[in-house]
Amino acid sequence: MGHDLRAALSISGINAGVFPRKSMKNITQEPIYLHDYQVPDYLIDTIDLTFELNEEYTRVKSLLNVMANPLATRQDRHLILHGEALELISIALNNKPLNAEQYEIKNDKLHIFSVPDEFTLEIHTLIKPQENTALSGLYKSCGNFCTQCEAHGFRRMTYFLDRPDVMARFTTTIIADEAKYPVLLSNGNLISIEKSEDGKQRVKWADPFKKPCYLFALVGGDLDSVEDYFITQSGRQVTLRIYVEKGNRDKTAHAMEAVKKAMRWDEEVFGREYDLDIYMIVAVSDFNMGAMENKGLNIFNTQYILANPETATDVDFIHVESVIAHEYFHNWTGNRITCRDWFQLSLKEGLTIFRDQSFTADTTSKTVARIQDVKDLRQSQFPEDAGPLAHPVRPESVIEINNFYTATVYNKGAEVIRMQQTILGQDAFRKGMDLYFDRHDGQAVTIEDFVKAMEDASGIDLTQFRLWYSQAGTPVLKIKDEYDAKTGNYTLHIEQTCTETPGQPHKKPFHIPVKMGLLDQQGKELLHDLLHIKNAKEVFHFKNLPSKPVPSLLRHFSAPVKVQYPYTNAELQLLMQHDTDLFNRWEAGQQYALNVMLKMIQDVHDNKPLHVPGEYISALNHLLLTMQHDKWLLAEMLMLPTEKYIAEYMTVVDVDAIHHVREVLATEIAKQLKPHFLTLYEEHHDVTAPYVFNIHEVGKRQLKNTCLFYLMLLNDETIPLGLKQFELALKTNMTDTMAALATLNNIDAPERDMALNVFYEQWKNDPLIVDKWFALQASSKLPNTLKQVKKLLHHSAFDIKNPNKVYALIGSFCNRNLHCFHTPDGEGYAFLKDCVLQLDKINPQIAARMVKPLSEWRRYDVGRQHLMHEVLEQIAQSKNISKDVFEIVTKSLKKQEIIA
Ligand code: TRP
Ligand code: ZN
Repeated sequence: MGHDLRAALSISGINAGVFPRKSMKNITQEPIYLHDYQVPDYLIDTIDLTFELNEEYTRVKSLLNVMANPLATRQDRHLILHGEALELISIALNNKPLNAEQYEIKNDKLHIFSVPDEFTLEIHTLIKPQENTALSGLYKSCGNFCTQCEAHGFRRMTYFLDRPDVMARFTTTIIADEAKYPVLLSNGNLISIEKSEDGKQRVKWADPFKKPCYLFALVGGDLDSVEDYFITQSGRQVTLRIYVEKGNRDKTAHAMEAVKKAMRWDEEVFGREYDLDIYMIVAVSDFNMGAMENKGLNIFNTQYILANPETATDVDFIHVESVIAHEYFHNWTGNRITCRDWFQLSLKEGLTIFRDQSFTADTTSKTVARIQDVKDLRQSQFPEDAGPLAHPVRPESVIEINNFYTATVYNKGAEVIRMQQTILGQDAFRKGMDLYFDRHDGQAVTIEDFVKAMEDASGIDLTQFRLWYSQAGTPVLKIKDEYDAKTGNYTLHIEQTCTETPGQPHKKPFHIPVKMGLLDQQGKELLHDLLHIKNAKEVFHFKNLPSKPVPSLLRHFSAPVKVQYPYTNAELQLLMQHDTDLFNRWEAGQQYALNVMLKMIQDVHDNKPLHVPGEYISALNHLLLTMQHDKWLLAEMLMLPTEKYIAEYMTVVDVDAIHHVREVLATEIAKQLKPHFLTLYEEHHDVTAPYVFNIHEVGKRQLKNTCLFYLMLLNDETIPLGLKQFELALKTNMTDTMAALATLNNIDAPERDMALNVFYEQWKNDPLIVDKWFALQASSKLPNTLKQVKKLLHHSAFDIKNPNKVYALIGSFCNRNLHCFHTPDGEGYAFLKDCVLQLDKINPQIAARMVKPLSEWRRYDVGRQHLMHEVLEQIAQSKNISKDVFEIVTKSLKKQEIIA
């Protein structure tokens, strides 16, 4: 691993250039800054919309009540509205049509000169949703009309003040052919339905709550629906309705239960009740993200609604619940209280992720839920924080806001909320939440307002804590200890550092809450405590300890940091077996596996034979014998850290060594523990039992399938085991089908192709399952995977316009299949470049997400750096790239300021 990255860079000369020259013209795509925020010059009190949905065009009429903002500071009297990809038909101010001298359209903005203090504005525009492949604004998915307005989609339907601090009361009328589009929906309550002779239907909706336009939604289509109801804590009955594309009604039961569960939980845990008479969810096949919290009318990616035992895995079932909870929770954290500007995005997203994580922890397994949160954070946020795209939870400048729906804003943002809960304690935190809701209901506010509410409710000073919002980078805690046998005194020395990130060379110390405990040499807990790390160096003393204790550090992952403490293998094994904090049992096991693998990687580099330490295998052996009461946790503890996580611990990422070593270790575990795995597998594999979704059954399946995973690595007489499970589960149990198929997928044998074909034939009419089939093949470890992926791009079921398909095939390969994507010939990089350039013309948001793996080029060896850098340059120099891709690519290429 030895050589230094910077040295490698100067040798290769890669970092000599600053910006790629040809794309300089794009630099007019200037960033906007948080510190430039100004209140809007005009406010819009009401908006009355009429949509005429046709096949060739959609006509949008918008009637606005506008008034000058008394708080505004600007002097001129010009109203500037946002608008993008619109055909303007007419504008009338106070009912008088404007002539060409009275307005101007420039750079996606409509300037109306010399407006009065209060006036109405009527704007007619034409749009073409059927040609909208960006999936932002009004578009068509499987023949149905739907919208996505966050962040800047509303301006693609009509001219408006498209910023979250402009909140208006919306009424919406939708006119469409009743035969083609019987279902016409918008936010709020249904006001009227009129039918006319020409077969048109005219449906009117009114939303009683003021909202920013990013929460607007409209749906028009021929959809199936299911209905249920919920009685709120105050006794009101709320209609619940889920709309799905035709033929999917049999996959909605789990989603409906999840809605009710989430509603009840938010009442019980946060005292928050739903506020409209109807709550609607619409599931569509083409969607850029997971789902969207539009007021009273959430729109979901089908992936997070449709689930039944035959079609969805345990993990899918859990995701459906947590995304439904997430969008539902936004009704209070996001909708009732929204963001002042998009720099505050984490105000709603970090907080709502925290809320959905708490929901999942309460309703499934507290420990496994936390393990999952931490795996996500380490897998996606830590690398972001360590690379050229690092940004604070509250970014300070942005070119394209869609690029900031990141793991940092979402997942680290959630950790920052969780730390406030830890610092304040459960009760004071709940008081802070109550105060926040009380104080700011109906407002568009800032992260500062949130933290202030926490401070005011608790009396705790969070001045230093606020740095978590403004400083990027993952802090590192270097921990050392000493024990004095004579006095019984034990001392912990904790030092915090945080490496530089773009624009932030020096960091101030963070306020870091560290939950910890001390165990004696027999594994008995001696004490536990919450330490507040506030200075660069801290010392903590513990008295009267009978022997040198083993510290259990950062329990339940109480802060998003990296901990370095020189554990011996024996200490890690002790923690694995005895820690009262179950999360830290898992963590100790991961640390142990990581140590073993890093040592093996060193041996690869030193040309030494690989050796798997016997104590490590016996630690796992011990787990198998003692942890069976918590099967789900046991399954998690048996799994090795991912290749991506191991890469985090290397100065120069060696994908081949990581892959090789991990395979060797897993195979050795399989060999040595084979009898255990076989017994456990047989014990928990009940082919006759129907699929039931509950934690107990999920735990059993996860454990059994982990055993199967190991057994299948043996590549011998165990293959029939996987094949048999695959065949038996194929039509009834997607969890077991996928688990078996995933193991066969890595075996170069005729059984693999046979199983993949059988699977496809069985499920080719279900697009979400075809996605699984694409994703699986793109994740295969077999050496011809890229060739297969390229072939699958031309498969009749692949559609580059559908984000789920792109994520499944291209995303799985480039993001998760490290070993195959980073082949030294650079073919993976060239492939990604071609995909990104093609995608950018279709859907810039998706293109910008796909290009991200290339941003990590500095982490690799010189050869790969060259190749990755080259394709980044080629993308940057391509004509007419979107500002989405432009921002990611230029930030990735930008020379890092090296400040002495
Ligand atoms: N607010 C959505 C959420 O719940 C995020 C989202 C949905 C989104 N669709 C989007 C963001 C399109 C940007 C673009 O997290
Ligand atoms: Zn959200």
